Order: sequence, then C-alpha cells, then structure tokens
Amino acid sequence: MTQKSTRGHVLCVVGARPNFMKIAPIMRAFSAAAVPVPSRLVHTGQHYDAAMKASFFTQLRIPEPDLDLGVGSGSHAVQTAEIMKRFEPELDANPPRAVLVVGDVNSTIACSLVAVKKGIPVIHVEAGLRSGDRAMPEEINRILTDQLSDLLFTTEQDAAANLQREGIDAGKIHFVGNVMIDSLLQNLSLAIPAEHTFERFGAPPAAEEPFGLVTLHRPSNVDDPAVLEALLGTLCDIGRDMPLVFPMHPRTRNNIERFGLDKQLADSGICVTGPLSYLEMLGVMQRSSLVLTDSGGLQEETTALGIPCLTLRHSTERPITVTEGTNTIVGTSAERILTAYRDFRQTGGKAGRIPSLWDGRAAERIAANISDWLVAGT
Ligand code: UD1
Repeated sequence: MTQKSTRGHVLCVVGARPNFMKIAPIMRAFSAAAVPVPSRLVHTGQHYDAAMKASFFTQLRIPEPDLDLGVGSGSHAVQTAEIMKRFEPELDANPPRAVLVVGDVNSTIACSLVAVKKGIPVIHVEAGLRSGDRAMPEEINRILTDQLSDLLFTTEQDAAANLQREGIDAGKIHFVGNVMIDSLLQNLSLAIPAEHTFERFGAPPAAEEPFGLVTLHRPSNVDDPAVLEALLGTLCDIGRDMPLVFPMHPRTRNNIERFGLDKQLADSGICVTGPLSYLEMLGVMQRSSLVLTDSGGLQEETTALGIPCLTLRHSTERPITVTEGTNTIVGTSAERILTAYRDFRQTGGKAGRIPSLWDGRAAERIAANISDWLVAGT
C-alpha cells in the first residue's frame, strides 16, 4: 500500500509580533497531522528588535526561519514593496504547494499578492474579521488578503457573513477557532510570574495589589500628538487610583519622545516597561485585574482568561469579544474611558463566556483540513 503524502510543502509567513503566536501552533500541528504537512518558514523581518522577535521564537518553540528577508521598518509602500521584492525569489527557488499567511499585517498582504500572481494558492488564517474602519491599515490588509485567498480559516462565526458579503465563495471558508488561543492555552503553565517581570523593570505594584495592564500602539492613537497626550492624561488619572503597568511598543515610545510627552508619563506613577516577551506578558496579564488596550490579540486573550478589557478604539474587528467575552469598546474620550473604569471599580467589570471553538485545538483543525486539501489535489 502506498503511503498518503501531500507532495510539496506549505510556505508559512511571519513578519510582525502578533504573527508569531499564531504560526507556532500551526507549524506544530502540521508535523503532528495524520498525513504530515511539510512546511518552510519565511520571516519578512518587519519586526526585528530582539524584544519584538527573538524571544518569541525561543519561547514559542518556532523553528528557525528558513529565510529572513530582513526588510525592517519603512512607510507602508516601502515596507510592502520590499517584502514583495524579496519574497518572490523564494517562491521561484522553492515553489510551494501553497503560501500560508496569518493575521492582517503588511507582511500578510505583501506575500499573498506575490503568491497569487504566480498561481500559488493562498491560505489565510484569521480571515473575515472586519472593523468597518478603512482608515486602519490592517482593515485594508484584511479585505485584500481575503480576496486573494483560496482557503480561509475563521475564528468566529460572524466572519463568514463578512466574507460572503464581499463575494467570497462559502466553500472556501472554514470555521476552525482561534490559533492565538491555542498558544495561550499551551503556554499558560509556562508563564513567567508577574513579580519576576516587575523586578526586572522596578517600581512594581505591591504583591497582591490589583493593577491594570495597558498597551497602546495603533497609529490612530499614538501618531497624533493631541490624541496621544489626551490618552496618556486619562491613563494618569486612572493610575492615581490603581497602579498601571504599561509595556511600551517601540512606535509609542518613539512618539512619546518625539512629542515631548515623557515628562507627563514620568510623573504619573505608571510603571512603563519595554516590550515584554510572550511568557512575561502572559504572567502579567494573568495577574492583572483590568486590561486597557488597542491591541486585537489582547481583546481575545482577555476574553479567554475572563479578565475585563476596555478597548481604547471606536470599533473592533473582533465583535465576539464584546457580545460573548469581557471586552467593552470605550473609544478614546476621557469621559467614556473614566466612566467605564469607575464601573469596573464598582462592579468588578464585565464577565463573559468562552467563544465557540476557542478550545486550544484550532491549529489541529487547520492542519487536518490543509492536509486533506493537499492530498486531494495531489
Ligand atoms: C505592526 C502591524 C500591526 C500590529 C503590530 C504589532 C502593520 C500594518 N501593522 O504595527 O497590525 O498590531 O505590528 O506590534 O503591519 N519598530 C522597532 N522595532 C521593531 C519593529 C518596529 O523599533 O522590531 C518601530 C519602528 O520605529 C517602526 C515602528 O516601530 O517604524 C512601527 O513598526 P511597523 O512594523 O511599521 O508597524 P507596527 O506599528 O509595529
């Protein structure tokens, strides 16, 4: 009897920090599938600082990339174009059966576009999420990547309706759950205790004292001096009532320095740290009483952990975290944020339930599906 095989490999792409926790369980599930899926990994180099990249590869046990395109930072046009130019030769040198992309960053759309023009099928993990806000660079990346994809894996059921509204064939769409939650569940027991992280950065909240975790990095929140100053002012008001820990993204840190807002923050009592490693972040999040964020991943992780989350944006592409989870969209006005904060102080914040298929097995479903798809097409 001949053994079933997928013939050829799937080329996986990562570029920026939120991609790493999504690709890790997928590559592991590829190896563990009944008919294993051979894969190669390309890192575009969109994120390159050790704190934004290296520790994630180690902690998440991601294999060393077969290729690092080393693109670094730049305008959207420059970054996207550089990724495309440097990605194409890999497809020529080692033609894959399919290219697999995750999420919504510039690396996602750039590699999808190169692949589809060469007739190579594109697989998109985390398809169909829509904020409805086309001013978000990620929203453009989401819409276009989904249009280019042959297989679309979704994290929540509403995503399929978004895709079908945009003319995407229902047969290509598979609801599989959330690979980011796979990583969360696989790594919770390895989380670095928050106290260790606080010691590393000094000025920790006292042991057992409730504290809030803050992250901010969206261009709409941190690129405009007036918006950023107002948000920091609101966070300082909260920080006077409850300690806040703020692991800072390089974009945010650069802008705070550029706009001369360092003084405001230095006097606030908010504990500012550099970007945390994945296991440090899990430890701090797990111990926090409240999360204030503009990140997509944190909206999902807090829902999975049952921690109230105030999202400092006007919309979310992850509505299930609001309808079923612990997330509240509070926008960016001081009044709304402080009202929601006071409500949290009085009531303990919003409770929720775990969304369907956020069970730690999404990558397994994806691998089985891709394996079958490749075998059928062999
Ligand atoms: C990118 C993603 C965003 C994701 C975020 C997570 C896009 C359009 N955006 O935004 O969806 O939520 O990653 O972090 O792809 N920088 C460093 N070191 C690094 C990387 C970046 O210092 O390793 C600084 C540079 O000054 C750079 C800035 O951060 O100009 C922004 O980086 P960039 O990759 O353009 O976008 P992010 O804001 O990180």
